[in-house]
Amino acid sequence: MTSRTTEDSCTALITGASSGIGLELARTLAANGHSLVIVARDEARLKAVAAQLESDYGVPVTWHAKDLSEPRAADDLWSDLSKANIIIDVLVNNAGVGLYGDFQDESLDAVRRMQMINVVALTTLTRLALPGMLARHRGRILNVASMVGYQPGGPRMAVYYATKSYVLSFSKGIARELDGSGVSVTALCPGLTKSAFEEKSGAQETRLYRLVPQMTASAVAMAGYRAMMRGRRVVIPGVISKILAFAGELPPRTIALEVNRFLLNRAAW
Ligand SMILES: NC(=O)c1ccc[n+]([C@@H]2O[C@H](COP(=O)([O-])OP(=O)(O)OC[C@H]3O[C@@H](n4cnc5c(N)ncnc54)[C@H](OP(=O)(O)O)[C@@H]3O)[C@@H](O)[C@H]2O)c1
Repeated sequence: MTSRTTEDSCTALITGASSGIGLELARTLAANGHSLVIVARDEARLKAVAAQLESDYGVPVTWHAKDLSEPRAADDLWSDLSKANIIIDVLVNNAGVGLYGDFQDESLDAVRRMQMINVVALTTLTRLALPGMLARHRGRILNVASMVGYQPGGPRMAVYYATKSYVLSFSKGIARELDGSGVSVTALCPGLTKSAFEEKSGAQETRLYRLVPQMTASAVAMAGYRAMMRGRRVVIPGVISKILAFAGELPPRTIALEVNRFLLNRAAW
């Protein structure tokens, strides 16, 4: 469902735009004159965010309430946009969720939903956006991965870490494929960022959240926006995140795996 449609040629589609990093990316894009299509599940919140963005930045904002963990949701979203003749020149695949706990105890439904939103919806929207962008010889795609995408594994968040490694690898691969096409793909790899993610994922009270400082969502969004507009393949905002990403790739990678096991334990102190 939408509040308004637009045929503006510089429209950005942002998933997960109702809070955290996605909301800040929406603000940054609107402040830079982009019309927006924003997506999340909570319809009331989306409506309120759309109205606020329109009033703050004077750009048209269309909203679509979709649960991207449903198997055909990304396809349906794209089909709705095509029917409304909305041309997407900037795609921000930001929506994502985390899940903390011992894998054998996790709900399979929750695991599948996380894989669907973090991996399948992101891949589907990228695939659906590319032909039009390539035909117009212009387009920017920002895929929100994570600093954890550089890690060899995340004990107690194993599936989440693996989904973000996928996003990073997928984005780097297609970014290289698209060299010279006028379309760029950027992987945004934030470290810990202040948002609802910590609590929703269940990872609060781990040593990770106690020991590692968090960046603001607005600083992360600004770094992502700038890198996307410059056509960079990867951006890791902040010095601490860069160090952690580098450490995650240092051989022997079993050391980083053990450090992650330590950090992802709930602190007993
Ligand atoms: N926060 C961090 O420390 C951190 C670090 C690295 C990477 N990231 C990544 O950054 C991205 C944004 O996270 P955030 O920290 O900004 O979290 P957040 O504040 O929880 O925001 C998540 C957004 O995604 C939407 N969303 C969640 N499930 C959805 C679904 N099934 N279908 C459609 N939309 C859905 C949420 O709205 P509804 O609930 O209304 O659907 C919300 O707009 C994620 O990909 C996350 O993995 C976060």
